[in-house]
Amino acid sequence: MEPSPAWQVFRYHEETKHHFHRYARSLGYLDWETQPNPFRTYEGTTPVLLPLLKKDPEGGHLDLYERPHNAFWDFTLTGIGAFLELSLGLSAWKSIPAGNRWALRMNPSSGNLHPTEAHLVLPAMEGASRFQAVAGTRVEGSVYHYNAYSHALEPRALLPPDYAQRMRSHFQSPGFLIGLTHIAWREAWKYGERALRYCHHDAGHALAALSFAGNLLGWKVTVLSALSTDDAAVVLGFPQITWPSFEEERPDLLCFVSPAPQKAIPRALPSDLLQAFTHLRFQGAPNALSKDHVEWPLIQETEQILDKPRTPETSVRFEAPSLVREPVSALPAARLIRQRRSAVDYDGVTSITQAQFLAMLDKTLPRNGVAPFDVELDEPLVHLALFVHRVTGLESGLYFWLRNAAHLMDLKRSLHRDFVWEVAAGTRSLYLLHRGDFRAEAAKISCGQSIAGDSAFSLGMLAHFRPVIERTPWRYPALFWETGMIGQVLYLEAEACGVRATGIGCFFDDAVHDILGLRNNAYQSLYHFTVGGPVEDLRLETHPPYDHLPADRR
Ligand SMILES: Cc1cc2nc3c(=O)[nH]c(=O)nc-3n(C[C@H](O)[C@H](O)[C@H](O)COP(=O)(O)O)c2cc1C
Repeated sequence: MEPSPAWQVFRYHEETKHHFHRYARSLGYLDWETQPNPFRTYEGTTPVLLPLLKKDPEGGHLDLYERPHNAFWDFTLTGIGAFLELSLGLSAWKSIPAGNRWALRMNPSSGNLHPTEAHLVLPAMEGASRFQAVAGTRVEGSVYHYNAYSHALEPRALLPPDYAQRMRSHFQSPGFLIGLTHIAWREAWKYGERALRYCHHDAGHALAALSFAGNLLGWKVTVLSALSTDDAAVVLGFPQITWPSFEEERPDLLCFVSPAPQKAIPRALPSDLLQAFTHLRFQGAPNALSKDHVEWPLIQETEQILDKPRTPETSVRFEAPSLVREPVSALPAARLIRQRRSAVDYDGVTSITQAQFLAMLDKTLPRNGVAPFDVELDEPLVHLALFVHRVTGLESGLYFWLRNAAHLMDLKRSLHRDFVWEVAAGTRSLYLLHRGDFRAEAAKISCGQSIAGDSAFSLGMLAHFRPVIERTPWRYPALFWETGMIGQVLYLEAEACGVRATGIGCFFDDAVHDILGLRNNAYQSLYHFTVGGPVEDLRLETHPPYDHLPADRR
């Protein structure tokens, strides 16, 4: 008998756990000869060069989340360029003196390997002169791939002339589609079988990055959550592509980007419009990323069963109190986005205040009409188990940040019976579980990385797991997307409060569960994070993000 998809997801998850005595299977060393190119290009296309921002959109810290004060940017090439630059664009180049140079991006990525790609479906834009990035360039309605290296759109298929009008009548709004995809090989090159988890964390980070950037332009990103993976593949023309071996892009999600909507956005595309994409003629060949590959059958088998089916259109009602507005950063929102970096080391002394801590956590709560969770991925399924080391006004210990109150009783039953569950700091979302110094333990369970103990706090993201997978195995990636979105909030919030964050994909899964007293997989820790006072690596040099482009484009 064929194993069920849920069984296969559980198998993938168990097989890719790190244990004290055994890491998940990987090559065990880095084969620099086959390191994948972090930049995909569709060869044979003539790119439309996007303008780089001369002036960032206005908007302060809280305008990342809220929309009322953000001026609406027209859907022009300038707007699209700004949207992509501030979400998936380059943020800097780093180099070792007289050595290697590598690009960093607005969105983080496990190992800086960047498995996420983006494709846009843009209607022909009116007022051609305003859309000219470079003299003579005209923008057609087309499916495009975003090339982050050259900040350009690679046209892959011309849209039918009536496309814009059909889209507009369906959504009752102007707007465009953006799809995120992943190339598992980019992560598998370094991380072997655990790579798929990282691809989906990264997609979550990228989704939140899109939502924040869109918000600053007065746009709203909504996930077309009723579509199937096959639907997304059809829109992106993937059935027509011959992929370089082992380097296939698989669709993660398709989103509609609109002006801040007055009413609900449909979560699907009409079947006749989907049908129209099957008749498009796609051009451009995806470049080869590595000259050789290592095969990871577990990843390939798991990818097959994670395809999402079509589901009924639903919208999610979140119930969170209004946004905590203090303390607030004086830095512009775009600056917070641009300066976001992962700390590679923490000083072991910097503390943050209780008010800063609570304001940071508050932004991880989903609210309707507030970015990034109003992309409406799903009901909240992920909570935070926090190791508080250096938060003035809060005693050190293990805490719990509840993101979905419906899980509280179940969590109390599932975690250690002797946890005290004391409401902390006067908020109904924060609970003290156990007083004590968790610095050494936090570092130990994070694959021995001292960054988890030398920070102000670190955490594990605990997802409601077994019941969700049993019912809907294809939601496995979405659990990781949610963690990535929370991570993106923490990255920006850390910058806003003058400290820094780092995502932690390497942790000993069941050692975390032991600390929490989890005896089964009703909940699983999927992603860790740490926030505190960074120590800069002074050996590295930093260069401007687009210094590789011709001077007339910068
Ligand atoms: C999913 C994910 C997992 C990560 N895991 C770790 C980790 O275990 N240890 C670490 O030091 N950094 C980790 N990082 C940070 C990345 O190394 C970092 O994002 C990447 O080098 C790019 O640098 P940047 O974030 O400064 O742009 C992780 C980042 C992500 C998004």
